[in-house]
Amino acid sequence: MDEDRRIVAAEEVTAGETVVFTAKDGFEKTEGLLTRLDDGTVVAFTNYCPHWRDVRLDKGSSALVRNGEIVCQKHGATFEKSSGHCDFGPCEGAVLDTFEVTVDDGAVYLTGDEWDAAEPGLSEERDLSSGGRIDF
Ligand code: FES
Repeated sequence: MDEDRRIVAAEEVTAGETVVFTAKDGFEKTEGLLTRLDDGTVVAFTNYCPHWRDVRLDKGSSALVRNGEIVCQKHGATFEKSSGHCDFGPCEGAVLDTFEVTVDDGAVYLTGDEWDAAEPGLSEERDLSSGGRIDF
């Protein structure tokens, strides 16, 4: 496995929370989040809500996971961990983009060809955690 694409130790990814990471392709960066399905599979989705694309689902301390779903805490949209499908909320019917990841020798790696590196944590250049919008 390519060590530049290593994200975190597999044991850090649990079913009850998410772990944010940054995927890189040259100067391009985006954020994803890892979580684990009940069958043990590690999956990865975009860290941005389809309702308001500048809202992070995981602001660095895990997104809320409830009843097997990832919850956007801005307006309460819920996303099935198995598919990324939004089954409730203002973006109902939308589907979170996915990342291809693989668990190998106790670590999670980003394996999609479109990315050449990964690291745990938020991307430094896009601090969108506070947001400038007015809640409703
Ligand atoms: S920003 Fe996520 S539900 Fe509105």
